[in-house]
Amino acid sequence: MKRIVILISGRGSNMQALVKSNIAQVEIVAVISNQSDAAGLAWAAEHGLATEALNHRDYEGRDAFDRALMERIDTYQPDLVVLAGFMRILTPVFCTHYVGRLINIHPSLLPAFPGLHTHQRALESGCRVAGCTIHFVTAELDCGPIIAQGVVPVLDGDTAEILAQRVLRIEHQLLPQAVADFVAGNLVIQGNRVNRLEAGITDGLVC
Ligand code: GAR
Repeated sequence: MKRIVILISGRGSNMQALVKSNIAQVEIVAVISNQSDAAGLAWAAEHGLATEALNHRDYEGRDAFDRALMERIDTYQPDLVVLAGFMRILTPVFCTHYVGRLINIHPSLLPAFPGLHTHQRALESGCRVAGCTIHFVTAELDCGPIIAQGVVPVLDGDTAEILAQRVLRIEHQLLPQAVADFVAGNLVIQGNRVNRLEAGITDGLVC
């Protein structure tokens, strides 16, 4: 059984997709949020998961918050930590501590559009495709070896909200697939690349 801790900051729809996918040999041991009123935290508690809130505003700075967060996460002895809409920049100490067992979902085709407002920036750049990326986390923001990417078209008349909804639908497919690949031991990090031991179902997803 692989133990997974999920970190969220808000709605938690990716967390829900991961929970509902019921991956074999996976136990979601905790859902932790930096926002005590995160809707996703209430959903997780209603579904019988262990939940915790650590409000980052209660700590003196980024280092103190990340240290406290690491302490809480480590009590669950996770094999994998999933950032599923966790809207905090993490310190190098945190990223190093979980290297190789910390993954993030980001709503753009990295390395394009790291950071915030990805859909608006994709529209303003005139992109004809958009998507999402699942990657191992390194200390540099939205960098790190890419596990999987999902691609959607940008359609005439799209707004950032419409595009976000289209991307979110493939996020919900891709994240459970990537976690399943990790849990199966199929992902091998080589430099900045991830090689799969078996042909992954995560390849070239276009919706
Ligand atoms: C998702 O679109 C996720 O990709 C994004 O936040 C949203 C969370 O939605 N993550 C980031 O922007 C991280 N840089 P959710 O709470 O419904 O899963």
